[in-house]
Amino acid sequence: MGAGPIGLAVIQCLKARQMDGQIIVVELSAKRKEIARQCGASTVIDPREEDVVSRCRSLCDGQGPAVALECAGVPASINTACRAVRTKGLIVNVALWDEPVPIDLMPIVFGEKRMAAAVSLTASDFRAVIDALESGKLKVEGMITHRIKMDEVVAKGFEALMKEKDTTIKVLVDVRA
Ligand SMILES: NC(=O)c1ccc[n+]([C@@H]2O[C@H](COP(=O)([O-])OP(=O)(O)OC[C@H]3O[C@@H](n4cnc5c(N)ncnc54)[C@H](O)[C@@H]3O)[C@@H](O)[C@H]2O)c1
Repeated sequence: MGAGPIGLAVIQCLKARQMDGQIIVVELSAKRKEIARQCGASTVIDPREEDVVSRCRSLCDGQGPAVALECAGVPASINTACRAVRTKGLIVNVALWDEPVPIDLMPIVFGEKRMAAAVSLTASDFRAVIDALESGKLKVEGMITHRIKMDEVVAKGFEALMKEKDTTIKVLVDVRA
């Protein structure tokens, strides 16, 4: 759920681990949908155009995906994820939330589903990513939309990432410039 820098990185990691199966991505932005396909998504769904739950079911033997990774950080998205995963499936929350989020637990209870969370901040996480970049297992060039100088970080970095999601994905800062 969500193909921002985090969701796209999740797709890359699934591909790097040679995960066997479909990767279904749910996203709104046209550019991010396109990059999700380039990163390896097998299907990209726009929740404004299609019913995510029924499309996911039809793509996965009528049952829905085994795992959903929530990377959008909006209540509608995590609730859709809770409904879309199959019975006994797993919802992994990767998103961070500014405030408590209302989640309908009934699909979790009746589907005997599980919820988990993942945060990636340790030195060994960074080492593993650096190694995967070095070996070429992670190919992230397609995610890099801008290269900016240090004094452009606020306007062309943070503000662009918040306001221009359709064109801004990964912004590299050249600290020497
Ligand atoms: N767990 C961690 O270690 C970790 C680390 C960094 C960031 N995060 C969090 O991960 C989340 C994603 O980060 P990001 O930088 O990719 O954010 P982002 O805002 O750039 O990307 C979120 C994407 O979700 C899409 N989206 C919005 N509503 C949607 C919906 N209803 N269905 C599907 N997609 C929808 C948006 O179009 C956007 O592309 C944020 O909450 C961020 O704080 C977590």
